[in-house]
Amino acid sequence: MPALEKLVVTGGNKLVGEVTISGAKNAAVAVIPAAILVEGVCRIENIPAIKDVAIIIEMLEQLGAIVQYIDKNTVEIDCTKIHTYTAPYEMVIRMRASYYLVGALLGRFNRAKVAFPGGCDFGVRPIDQHIKGFEALGVKVQMKHGIIHAAADTLKATQVYMDVVSVGATINLILAAVKAKGTTIIENAAKEPHVVDLANFLNAMGANVKGAGTDVIKIRGVERLTGGTYSIIPDQIEAGTFMIAAAAAGGDVLIKNVIPKHLESVTAKLVEMKANVEEYDDAIRVSRTGKLVKANVKTIPYPGFPTDLQPLAAVLLCMAEGTSTITEGVWDSRFQYVDELKRMGAKIKVEGRMAVIEGVERLSGAPVKAVDLRGGAAMVIAGLVGEGITEIRDLSHIDRGYEYFEEKLAGIGADIRRI
Ligand code: EPZ
Repeated sequence: MPALEKLVVTGGNKLVGEVTISGAKNAAVAVIPAAILVEGVCRIENIPAIKDVAIIIEMLEQLGAIVQYIDKNTVEIDCTKIHTYTAPYEMVIRMRASYYLVGALLGRFNRAKVAFPGGCDFGVRPIDQHIKGFEALGVKVQMKHGIIHAAADTLKATQVYMDVVSVGATINLILAAVKAKGTTIIENAAKEPHVVDLANFLNAMGANVKGAGTDVIKIRGVERLTGGTYSIIPDQIEAGTFMIAAAAAGGDVLIKNVIPKHLESVTAKLVEMKANVEEYDDAIRVSRTGKLVKANVKTIPYPGFPTDLQPLAAVLLCMAEGTSTITEGVWDSRFQYVDELKRMGAKIKVEGRMAVIEGVERLSGAPVKAVDLRGGAAMVIAGLVGEGITEIRDLSHIDRGYEYFEEKLAGIGADIRRI
């Protein structure tokens, strides 16, 4: 039974060879619901074959979309026949990104009825900025019995200043505004690569979104979007995971199909810690032979060091000489994985949004669990550098976001198997 599956990792191997990065999860889970706005067939390539993508595709099918897999990484979606703007609890509870259904259904029908979404638990995960954006477009938003009710006669272009930099709110507002009359301006927008990817997808389908990747995005409403073909960008976080794995375990790994620009904050931190990083056009090579040295990591929105690599960075800092710190600058509570890492001998003290990490000679293998997606990936990397055997349980978190994780790691020399 899948729930009883575990990953068994024997630590100590160096990582050597080549690995190819998949399409970006957080771009795919925005681009796929964006197909709701399109009249005609969208062919979306380079989607990662992971659980979160399967779930969001299933949601679209339940809403009435016709979906055809061309191969495991290419899908054709036709949302012409979507007949409802209601997404019930059972449909959306399985993932956070289901809140993109609100923006997409609003953009299509001027109304949406979507249950409050699920997702990784990082403390409070408010959606006030999403609601602020929708209301500015003239939408009446009400929360009743755990359901978001959003409705407008027409969507009117607007200017909104986001009080916090939010990936989700920026994407949701773009989705809702893409067919609104006039030009909507989002100030203090998120600049993450997946925001840019969504804008590029919409533009490829006939939208007029400018400035994505900067903190001011301008969306000039268009009458309609028509079908086309689009290829999802490589996954920044998966690439960063393999960069950190190579630096932590030592060895020499060429990470292919990446956009090095998206990884500048990670590259800089690895170089500071004395790993070697070489950038190519669409690949990054990470190697290490000497000792890692301590560093301080602060996570902030893009182009800063990504919060989604914070648990992975913690494993790396465990291997570094000296005392390092991590300051979590995005989420209130993202250190749940630390207790698991401590079972493996990590010396970490957490106080509020800060972790102080004392380097250790080696971690030691132990039974642990994946507490969330990136926390789970961190346990796997900890297993690779630990002495002896680490068994990781609760793999459903990891399977949500990493395509062929253990196969890719085994391909570069890790001793890892799923049983
Ligand atoms: C996205 O979540 C990602 N998920 C997360 O990755 C990632 O950790 C996060 O962005 C930050 O980069 C997807 O793209 C599906 P936010 P999102 O809105 O959009 C506060 C992973 O591991 N906030 O940018 O939900 C919020 O509390 C996942 O792949 C408000 O205050 O994050 C947080 O402190 C986990 N009000 C900060 O903003 C709001 O209305 C950033 O959240 C919205 C957010």
